[in-house]
Amino acid sequence: MRNTLSSELLFELSKPGCRAAELPPCDVPVRPIDELLPAEALATEPLPLPELAEPQIVRHFVNLSTLNMSVDANFYPLGSCTMKYNPKRNERLAGLPGFANLHPYQPDETIQGMLELLYQSQHMLSELAGLPAVSLQPSAGAQGELTSLLVAAAYFRDRGEPKQLVLIPDGAHGTNPASAAMAGFETAAVKSTPEGFVDIDDLAARLDDRVGVFMITNPNTLGIFEPRMAEIARRVHDVGGLVYLDGANMNAILGITRPGDFGADLMHFNPHKTFSGPHGGGGPGAGPIAVAEKLAPFLPSPVVVKDSRGYRLDYDRPKSIGRVRSFFGNVGVLVRMYCYLLTHGPDGLRRIAEDAVLNANYLLSRVRRFLAVPQGDRCMHEFVASAAKLKADRGVAAMDVAKRLLDYGFHAPTVYFPLIVKEAIMIEPTETESRETLDAFADALECILQEPAETLHDAPVTTPVSRPDEVRASRQPILKWKPDE
Ligand SMILES: Cc1ncc(COP(=O)(O)O)c(C=O)c1O
Repeated sequence: MRNTLSSELLFELSKPGCRAAELPPCDVPVRPIDELLPAEALATEPLPLPELAEPQIVRHFVNLSTLNMSVDANFYPLGSCTMKYNPKRNERLAGLPGFANLHPYQPDETIQGMLELLYQSQHMLSELAGLPAVSLQPSAGAQGELTSLLVAAAYFRDRGEPKQLVLIPDGAHGTNPASAAMAGFETAAVKSTPEGFVDIDDLAARLDDRVGVFMITNPNTLGIFEPRMAEIARRVHDVGGLVYLDGANMNAILGITRPGDFGADLMHFNPHKTFSGPHGGGGPGAGPIAVAEKLAPFLPSPVVVKDSRGYRLDYDRPKSIGRVRSFFGNVGVLVRMYCYLLTHGPDGLRRIAEDAVLNANYLLSRVRRFLAVPQGDRCMHEFVASAAKLKADRGVAAMDVAKRLLDYGFHAPTVYFPLIVKEAIMIEPTETESRETLDAFADALECILQEPAETLHDAPVTTPVSRPDEVRASRQPILKWKPDE
């Protein structure tokens, strides 16, 4: 018999007369409803709501909640997007009424605790970045990129320097060129070498006084640290450009090196990745940015400051680019970030990076025995395998391998990114995983590669939906019970 409790909709499970709650008989005088409400506020017939008993409702939602892979239930090696475990302590702390029940319109003097938390967060991020000024406002890494590029554009405008161009390595995340274009810049790609580094000759050929910003991800999207970072930064600075560090991969270098020390002028953090905030369904996220002193006047307004009267929001910032988000940013995520930072402290954060790199290298050493890792002698926090040979020899694509991993109880790795690796399978274990989990994942991958191609083409077979048309699902979502009504 099929368990329909999660596959059927509440409307389909509905049975007339079923109730989740029985109200006691009314013990106050009853007045007709039309004496209490005007006619236009009254429905002419009962609302078409599903009628169910409480256990049905509970089972429906609990079963639904188990259909998705989640980091609480499964290993989640989603390269670049760093879905690390979300410590439950941080969830509890962020839910305390003193945080969760604040209203953003409360006067500063009634939210001193929250402002202090944000102020200290600005300070801690500044320390980790090696850059003095921070804005907590942006709500995602991508919005941090856009905000930083708007800051850069304002800086160049203020100096009367017309800079039109942003250079971006060809292995970069797609949000990089998108953010640059949204901020009004033209973009051009810089080639990577076969080893996966920035091609310095190509960069040098493109650098001139039109270049405003060079956006770089370091460690890069192949999970390797740019060995010539200092030279790259010097060359960009020599033409009057700024170096932007996409901080999505900060997990590999926390407390070990600082972007400001290796030449970055501005950067974003992804607290929903690096600092273990929840990250799903496109949010809720945060994307604070840190910038050099000369860029500080252009940061979004307000920033949290401290003076003799305590903490307050400073709006008096004449050169600011203005708001990029309502209120102070995505405070729920920032509270979790703060808890994470305080829990680990400086030594703990360094240990996180070291363990993340150790775990990734352990997994790399196992995976490369049966799957090609083109740039993979060693890695930082993640590595990128390639199914190109598998595809050529047996018609098995990266997508087939990723989908089959779901049947083995693992979330799929990121696939087809970065674009510079054919049939890319990007794997990032993070620091929280045990050796047993890493071994189980490597064993599963090895088994999968020995399975017949037809089995892999049909995967996953254990999930409620096998291979949805993802583009159609996002462009034409069916969100109504009866789409035609
Ligand atoms: C390298 C890189 N840059 C930028 C981003 C954008 O971050 P967010 O998802 O927070 O917008 C990501 C996210 O996936 C990323 O992996």
